[in-house]
Amino acid sequence: PPNVHYDFVVKEANYTKLCSTKSILTVNGSFPGPTITVHKGDTISVTVHNKGRYGLTIHWHGVKQPRNPWSDGPENITQCPIQAGASFTYQVIFSDEEGTLWWHAHSDWTRATVHGAIIILPPRDKSYPFATPYAQQAIIIASWYKADVMAVYDEAVTTGGDPNASDAFTINGQPGALYDCSKGTTYRILVNYGKTYLFRIINAVLNEELFFGIAKHKITVVGTDGEYIKPIITDYIMISPGQTMDVLVTTNQTPSYYYMAASAFADATASFDNTTTTAILQYNASYTPPSTIPSPTLPSYTDREAAENFTSKLRSLASTEHPVCVPKDITTQMFISVSVNQELCPNASCSGPNGTRLSASLNNISFVTPTIDVLQAYYRSLKGHRGKKGSDNEIYTTDFPLKPPYFYNFTGDVGNNTMNPSLGTKVKLINYMEQVEIVFQGTNVMAPENHPMHLHGFSFYLVGTGSGNFNYKTSPKSYNLVDPPKVNTFGVPKNGWATIRFVADNPGVWFMHCHLERHATWGMNTVIIVKNGNGKNSSILPPPDNLPSCSKS
Ligand code: C2O
Ligand code: CU
Repeated sequence: PPNVHYDFVVKEANYTKLCSTKSILTVNGSFPGPTITVHKGDTISVTVHNKGRYGLTIHWHGVKQPRNPWSDGPENITQCPIQAGASFTYQVIFSDEEGTLWWHAHSDWTRATVHGAIIILPPRDKSYPFATPYAQQAIIIASWYKADVMAVYDEAVTTGGDPNASDAFTINGQPGALYDCSKGTTYRILVNYGKTYLFRIINAVLNEELFFGIAKHKITVVGTDGEYIKPIITDYIMISPGQTMDVLVTTNQTPSYYYMAASAFADATASFDNTTTTAILQYNASYTPPSTIPSPTLPSYTDREAAENFTSKLRSLASTEHPVCVPKDITTQMFISVSVNQELCPNASCSGPNGTRLSASLNNISFVTPTIDVLQAYYRSLKGHRGKKGSDNEIYTTDFPLKPPYFYNFTGDVGNNTMNPSLGTKVKLINYMEQVEIVFQGTNVMAPENHPMHLHGFSFYLVGTGSGNFNYKTSPKSYNLVDPPKVNTFGVPKNGWATIRFVADNPGVWFMHCHLERHATWGMNTVIIVKNGNGKNSSILPPPDNLPSCSKS
């Protein structure tokens, strides 16, 4: 297969939305950024030329990157940022993925506007596990702030408070008819009558899970996170930040105009964007619009039942061409409690309750991002550099616990007993080819809500979810080991648990975090390091020679 090369020029550009103009960070001047289209198994290179004002990195969300953490992207986890004026070439190695993924900046909140679709077509000699669609189109839903996103981020970080919610959601860059000054620019998808279209839906939103639907049209979901699933016929989908859904839509309604829409599923007390973005599905380019364009009826933002109804239907395709292989002999088991909490504010001027700052943790450890990337520190056995807030002499430590420090009634009224998470850059070392199971336990500390957890370097099986506290005796009885969905991002349910399984077949340094950007900012992160194996092709690839330097500028 050809080794395709892309140039990504990161630069500012002026965009006018919601009646005001501001400068945003873009790739090649476009928002959303360029679509990457490959076939399964291709390798591409992407040179990122940073013509912006700040350092940044790009991540290829859901791309396994076998043995190639060097090109994975999370800032100060697998690389230091590409400084303003510098460039870096990523090798993006596709392997098992087929369907839709996406790329995004992985530095602070720059992913708000720096992102785009990745379309992975079947291998050149193969086809889809469904009738070949007439046409296809990526649908990227994103967050739009009237203010500068970096200012929103900075304010939240400095005050320790909850960041402002976005002012709009956008579909392929446009907020749509329900927002001020936006009607004329509503995004349109032109379709012909009687055809089946493949829409590749990406939730690139910073902080909200979403419901999405199309007026009068059934949606058939055939894939998620770069994997095929058993088709689900539905009126709406629920999609978390980071996730993708491949849906088929047949244009079998009276030729006219129809709205598609997305709005938040936000069953929590945290502030969220409760606006609705729309785009138009337009039959025949020349047709005149009806006086009222029909809108889809989406579940309300607190409709947990609707959300869970949808997610509980996800099943791997489990066909001969797309088999399922769930690890059954678990050799590493972890139990990770997932909490939003508070830490005491260093200068007591923070805007959280009693001068605290909002924080978030896994097993009660709030992750501190080091100043030198974990990958380099691991690969070169670097020591003697201090983390941002750390006090020891290591860039990271390998004592991320297998269990929370103490067990309690996670989903009961737990008061303030995890008020002060400990800070640290604690990572988990795993041997090559271990069969890993991780149980994630949501808690009732602060704001109970879903946490879309994402692991880099792997797709994994989501074998079970449930409400309440995980029970070692009874909960595993509900596991689906036959056709569980294979995903890279999944919701740890509000006041519930979720279990994933994977084989540690990808040596490298892999970030794991909540894909709600405010939770990641607060420390709901850790790193899994898979050690090299002994055999051939079981070690991390050598580093590229043009890695961005970690010296502070
Ligand atoms: Cu979609 Cu760590 O990222
Ligand atoms: Cu979260």
